[in-house]
Amino acid sequence: MSHLIAPSILAADFGNLQRDCEMVNNSDADWFHIDVMDGHFVPNISYGMPVIKAIKKYATKPLDVHLMIEKPERYIEEFANIGADIITVHYESTVHLHRTITQIKDTGCKAGVVLNLTTPVSVLEDILPQCFMVLLMSINPGFGGQKFEEMTYSKIKKLRSMINAQNLNTHIEIDGGVNDKNARKLIESGADVLVAGSYVFKSENPSQKISELKLI
Ligand code: DX5
Ligand code: ZN
Repeated sequence: MSHLIAPSILAADFGNLQRDCEMVNNSDADWFHIDVMDGHFVPNISYGMPVIKAIKKYATKPLDVHLMIEKPERYIEEFANIGADIITVHYESTVHLHRTITQIKDTGCKAGVVLNLTTPVSVLEDILPQCFMVLLMSINPGFGGQKFEEMTYSKIKKLRSMINAQNLNTHIEIDGGVNDKNARKLIESGADVLVAGSYVFKSENPSQKISELKLI
């Protein structure tokens, strides 16, 4: 299966959200990547339920909801109810990760775990069979437009061998500073879902940038 592209709505034009959602619908993108930030787990505050409801109204592709919030277990049902299809929670944000992952799956959503840059992939050993996806941050989360960190490649390789060793088909998603310069190496290292915010939305032709990433 070819890799998937998930444009990050954080970089969209919120005054033209319907237009940007329709652009993603009509593009080669696979999912909508939705970043929720609470000003505690990460220094920035992004958007919450009302905006996600608005996106859901127009989106014809799955919503991949990335929760950068403390104690995400408090809000899982609510995100599922407003239309999340995939929910990912940070390993660093929830004390009882297994319980939170189970909670996500109980809503019918697909569940994923996110790791900060310096959290080693080895912490996932036991939870991997429960995960539809692992999201590796390739920046410090909180803001779009940051520089991609090279240490990501070796983390992807290690994680892919852990997944293979357990005979799983867990997705590996990469988020932060993804562009046409690093996309191929990310895929070759074992990633199969690429998130891209600035690279797509800050360009003259977002739909074409999505196609370029998809064709890599
Ligand atoms: C940042 C978010 C990312 C962000 C990526 O914490 O998780 O999804 O939108 O933006 P770019 O692609 O601009 O680095
Ligand atoms: Zn994200």
